[in-house]
Amino acid sequence: MNSLSLESKNKKNRREFLKNGMVAAGAATLGTGLLASGAPALAQQEKERSGQLPKGDAAILRFLAAAEIIETDLWVQYNELGGIQDNEVPGGSGNPLYTAALQVLDGDMNQYIHDNTEDEFTHETFINAYLASKGADTVNLEPFRTLPGSTATGSSGKPRLTNLMKLTVDTTWWTRYRSRTQNPDFGDTFPQAIPSLATGQHPAIPRTDADLNPSNHLQAIANTAGFHFATIEQGGTSLYPSLAQRVSSSEVLQIVLGIGGTEAMHFQTWHDKAGNAPPLTDPSDSTLVFPDLNAPPLGGEDFQTNLIMPEPTVFLSKSLPACSIIRPTNTTGAATGALNFLTAMGLFIGQSAPFFALLRELAEEADAARREGER
Ligand SMILES: [Fe+2]
Ligand SMILES: [Fe+2]
Repeated sequence: MNSLSLESKNKKNRREFLKNGMVAAGAATLGTGLLASGAPALAQQEKERSGQLPKGDAAILRFLAAAEIIETDLWVQYNELGGIQDNEVPGGSGNPLYTAALQVLDGDMNQYIHDNTEDEFTHETFINAYLASKGADTVNLEPFRTLPGSTATGSSGKPRLTNLMKLTVDTTWWTRYRSRTQNPDFGDTFPQAIPSLATGQHPAIPRTDADLNPSNHLQAIANTAGFHFATIEQGGTSLYPSLAQRVSSSEVLQIVLGIGGTEAMHFQTWHDKAGNAPPLTDPSDSTLVFPDLNAPPLGGEDFQTNLIMPEPTVFLSKSLPACSIIRPTNTTGAATGALNFLTAMGLFIGQSAPFFALLRELAEEADAARREGER
């Protein structure tokens, strides 16, 4: 298969998951010959896919819609087992032991989990509704809802998009936001707060009721969740400002800034709670160790666990004064970087090749977006 027909196949694939009647009709006529020689037809199709939105803005919003659908799916799994059960976030029935283990990190964990979950629902719903209101394609990942989730008490048991049972959790945000001299946008790298979470595969929810004891095993699962919450939300905290730099319409910019700010609120909350995770070794997995973060090799003034606001650091130029900022916010390749980050954490273990192909295409289209007037 040559690359052109491969591209054509991918685009047809993608269109099966983007909902827009007008585009669906157009997609039926899309073939290699048309792609090879039909530039005007393609331009018309791009217009149909973006509706009244600038093409790049539609692509950025579609990638964000996909990211929010993914966020919603994972947060729903946490809420079913560890959040408050009500009709704002329906589905599960709660797992008292897991909920109690999470509450070791903060007595309000179930409220925060519930509210974060509800927020993600609204992000997903709003972005897709906005795209539709502008006549642009929306994103639907329901055909990929195929992964078996937890069967522990409290789980709805419904199929999932994401896998919370084999996570490799990057905890470098802990040291990144405490550095006064380094910034990932300058190529700097940062040590892990919990090195053993960053290797291997770890459950962040009880997989079955067998995970509910011994109590320190369940606490290790709750601690993993506590760090994963912040890992996810710091990702969103960077993704929105990174993509905002390439938005053209002021209204789409308003959306991206408005939603992006709430991701930062989520992150700061979870940053605070992760610092309360009790030091322990998982009795069911001796390689999983939660160290005392107030002791070496961390600890000290820069690493104390209540240091949850960003330390000022280098921004844009080392000749400018240090500034308290979100980092990274480099815009080049931001969507693809976010997809790679989610994939590397094991969130999609078990997903199909078409799932990865669709997400990669959405990410690449978002990364190709440019502010109108800039090339
Ligand atoms: Fe979100
Ligand atoms: Fe979020």
